[in-house]
Amino acid sequence: MTELILGIESSCDETAAAVVRGAREVVSSVVHSQIDEHAEFGGVVPEIAGRSHLVKILPVVDRALEQAGLELDDLDGIAVTRQPGLIGSLLVGVSVAKSLAFTRGLPLVPVHHIEAHVYAASMECETPPYPCIALVVSGGHTALYRAESPVSMTLLGTTLDDAAGEAFDKVSWLLGTGYPGGPAVSALAREGNPRAIAFPRYRPKSGEVGFSFSGLKTAVLYHLRGGDALAATPEPSAIEGRADVAASFEAAVVDALVTQTLRACEEQGLGHVLVGGGVACNRMLRDEMQRRCAERDVRATFPSPAYCTDNAVMIAGLGTELLRAGATADWSLDAQAR
Ligand code: KG4
Ligand code: ZN
Repeated sequence: MTELILGIESSCDETAAAVVRGAREVVSSVVHSQIDEHAEFGGVVPEIAGRSHLVKILPVVDRALEQAGLELDDLDGIAVTRQPGLIGSLLVGVSVAKSLAFTRGLPLVPVHHIEAHVYAASMECETPPYPCIALVVSGGHTALYRAESPVSMTLLGTTLDDAAGEAFDKVSWLLGTGYPGGPAVSALAREGNPRAIAFPRYRPKSGEVGFSFSGLKTAVLYHLRGGDALAATPEPSAIEGRADVAASFEAAVVDALVTQTLRACEEQGLGHVLVGGGVACNRMLRDEMQRRCAERDVRATFPSPAYCTDNAVMIAGLGTELLRAGATADWSLDAQAR
């Protein structure tokens, strides 16, 4: 089938719209990032995010249609991120999607943002990979699932505290490398030795999978204070071996993510992993996951970097699957933060 679906994403700090044909073919994709608006605060400010979506969303939708050479009346449906995310941000996308669908008499399809991150990886697979393990690693989430299909996922384990992307963002703040932290820490890490400092790895109880990154973050902080928990935190410019700290921190995060993913594969008896979310851009994670999965005869699939971070292609793609399954919403659709 070759349905044309418009996807709309506004759950956090990217305003995005895309058109996808037949659930897999990207016809157009536009992402407006708000990074510059949040950078000085070192993280996403919800009120700024909501207002910025309001300003950008129609121009972004317009550009996605223009790039595709399409009009609203050419579409077969409109998919939108309904949850989870910042409520004021989600409401902007949901309101626009509802209005467009209502005025054009198009089906309206609500999409779960986490399932969409996983779907982005499945779009790279020649044949459907299900059942499989899914690892979602972003600024807000770090979790492992057993996926029976694109829309049927069972949570196997999550983080007890910070998400992996959040840990990158916080360590970046300590190291003075800016926001967003993932790409910045990773760039600095390339000049350092990942074995220089043995930062701790959280190990869940046997038979369980899961993550915890707050202990690691504290270990980085104490290391910067020279092992004296009560000492002052040095200014970033005064930190010795900053690149070694970045590389050793990155190695600890990547090791935890890969180890837990392989454990989930073993316990579930599954041989394919889909990885999604902003942290899936990370070069070391991509390389280490591929290397260690290959040793166990497990396949790992990542989206191309543009579809790891928030985008609307994944929303339109999964929205198409949902439309085929009849999972549409009526005009009372709301947004949900969780
Ligand atoms: O999926 P995403 O765009 O937004 C959320 O849904 O959270 O992920 C953003 C997160 C940020 O925390 C950012 O620091 C992290 O992904 N990130 C990375 C890299 N690129 C983005 N983390 C590590 N390495 C990267 N190369
Ligand atoms: Zn996301």
